[in-house]
Amino acid sequence: MSKRINLPPFPDSWYRVATSAEVGAGQILSLRYFGEELICWRGEDGEPHVQGAYCAHLGANIGCGGFVKGDTVVCPFHHWRYGGDGRNVEIPYRDKPQRAARLASYPTFEANGLIYAWYSAEKAEPEWNPPVLDEALDDGYMRFDSEPWEIRSHVQEIFENTVDIAHFQFVHGVSGFGAVELVQEGPMFRSIASVTMKTPRGEVNGAVESELWGLGIDCVRQRGLGPGKTIFTATPVEEELVRANYTFFVKRNEETGEPSNYGKGLMREFSRQITQDIPIWEAKIYREQPRLAMGEGAIVDFRRWVEQFYGPAAVAA
Ligand code: FES
Ligand SMILES: [Fe+2]
Repeated sequence: MSKRINLPPFPDSWYRVATSAEVGAGQILSLRYFGEELICWRGEDGEPHVQGAYCAHLGANIGCGGFVKGDTVVCPFHHWRYGGDGRNVEIPYRDKPQRAARLASYPTFEANGLIYAWYSAEKAEPEWNPPVLDEALDDGYMRFDSEPWEIRSHVQEIFENTVDIAHFQFVHGVSGFGAVELVQEGPMFRSIASVTMKTPRGEVNGAVESELWGLGIDCVRQRGLGPGKTIFTATPVEEELVRANYTFFVKRNEETGEPSNYGKGLMREFSRQITQDIPIWEAKIYREQPRLAMGEGAIVDFRRWVEQFYGPAAVAA
C-alpha cells in the first residue's frame, strides 16, 4: 500500500513538548507525542523531564494521577518512585528499588520559555541543542504563545514551506519575492527570501529569514520590516499528525504596554498564513521525485539537508 506521505514519521530532532509555564516545579503534565504516552514533570530542583508514561511495574499511566515528590515522580498505582534518569529509586513496601525497572527518558532542554524533548528512532544522544534567542531574554519584548494547530501532515512537509518560494505568492498573497539565499551548518538551515510585503504603509521591501534547527524548530523574522522573532515549532504526535505552535517575541509599546502595531501585525499575519497552508498540507501527497521549475533548487537543497535526521532505524521502520 502506498502511503500519502512516504517518510519515516519521526525524524531525529529536538521538539517542543510544552511551555515552561505549563510545568511548574512539582507539576506533571500528561502528553502524547511520537506515537507514545508521555509525561513531562519538573522536580523541586527545577529540572524538567520528559519520560514514557507507563510504569515499569504493572503499567499504570503515571500522567493519570501520578505526582512529583522531591526530584522524583510517583506512580499512582503502588507508589513506585522514579528519578529524572528514569530509574526506579523506591518501592515503598520493599527495602530496595529495582534498578532495572525504568521509564524511557528523553533528553530534555529548556530555552525560550519552552521545553524541548529529543527524539531519536535509534535512541542516539543529541549532538546539538536548540537555539537560545536573545529576544527571549530581553525585557523589551513581550511573549505570546499561540493555541496549537493539529495538522494531518509530516514535519518535513511543513518545513519544506520555508524554501518553497512560489507558494508565498499563490497561497499567502505575498508578491514580489526575489532570490533565496541559503546557509547550511549541520542541523541548521537558514533561508533568506527577499519579498515585497503589503503593509499599512504601502509596499515595503524586506526579507523573510527562516532558521530551521532540525525538523522541529523554525526561528523566523522579517528583516527590514520591524523587530520581532517567532519560534514556529512542529512536533509529531502520530504518523501523519503534527501539532504546531507559534511563540512570538514582539516589542512592547511603552506607552500602552501593549504589543507594538508591527508586533500585532506580525502575529496576525503569521497565524493567517498557517491557516492558509493547512488545507494544502492535509490533502497533498509527498512527491519523492517532484518536477520542479527553474529556480526551485532550494527545495532540492532542503531535501538533501533533511537526510541527516533519518537514521538507519528510522529508514527501516
Ligand atoms: S503500576 Fe506503577 S507502581 Fe504499580
Ligand atoms: Fe506557507
